[in-house]
Amino acid sequence: MNNKLSTKKLFSLEGRTALVTGSSGGLGKTLAEGLALNGTHVILNGRNRAKLEKTFTEFKGKGYAVSHAVFDVTNAEEIQSAVTSLTDETGVPDIIVNNAGINPRYPLEDFPEEEWDAVINTNLKSAFLVSKTFVKGMMVRQSGKIINICSLQSELGRDTIAPYAASKGGLKMLTRNMATEWARHNIQVNGIAPGYFKTAMTKPLFENHEFDAWLRNRTPAGRWGDPEELLGALFFLASDASSFVNGQLIFVDGGITAAI
Ligand SMILES: NC(=O)c1ccc[n+]([C@@H]2O[C@H](COP(=O)([O-])OP(=O)(O)OC[C@H]3O[C@@H](n4cnc5c(N)ncnc54)[C@H](OP(=O)(O)O)[C@@H]3O)[C@@H](O)[C@H]2O)c1
Repeated sequence: MNNKLSTKKLFSLEGRTALVTGSSGGLGKTLAEGLALNGTHVILNGRNRAKLEKTFTEFKGKGYAVSHAVFDVTNAEEIQSAVTSLTDETGVPDIIVNNAGINPRYPLEDFPEEEWDAVINTNLKSAFLVSKTFVKGMMVRQSGKIINICSLQSELGRDTIAPYAASKGGLKMLTRNMATEWARHNIQVNGIAPGYFKTAMTKPLFENHEFDAWLRNRTPAGRWGDPEELLGALFFLASDASSFVNGQLIFVDGGITAAI
């Protein structure tokens, strides 16, 4: 059968390799597990070695093909040395998911400058640094998928998270610019923009009853997302099904950006 007519073949992730940054916990862990469960060799990443090794051991125990690499996505030298050992082991990944992110909260007029820089470097510059290190190998191979984890804040502002919104708005434009420059090499660069999901990052929000009630009311679907609900968009963007999709963001947000 023509591969393009079979959902099984079109969405297949079997035998691929993927690097998912910030996958020791939170959404990145679920994204990594979704890929691993479907036959992709996943390279896990985080800064905290003990946390990363716990997830690595858990995934190994489930029988997944998995490696792990401790590096800070804001540090070009650490990325470079991790890349050298990774590419020796698994080759240039077919899929990069730029997921690592942070979100400290302060009123904008009091935002500490070092925290501002950390947010921009972790959420925005990292996607440039990590992608840049692998993309030449993707160009030689003439195939690749880069998926940038954006946010509602790629489009909408909110109190106390100005650099986060600036970084995620920037990541949306970086996604479009990467697609503009690299699509001709058969590298598809796209973004997933999650709404609200319960992780360490959103703990102060879901533990706040007032916020929780506000969010349920504000979201057309009337609830928080389940991290596994991001996998449909991930599988689409990571597989051949998105071979002519370039520079797009898929919002997985229960309809928040569709309604006021
Ligand atoms: N949760 C949501 O509702 C939501 C909504 C929209 C977008 N997002 C985005 O989704 C992504 C994941 O968020 P999350 O909620 O899963 O956050 P999380 O639970 O706090 O997890 C963040 C992950 O990133 C890693 N990380 C942070 N800084 C890093 C660095 N400099 N280098 C390497 N790894 C780093 C952390 O590992 P270490 O602890 O080892 O550093 C951890 O594995 C972020 O980009 C976030 O902006 C989340």
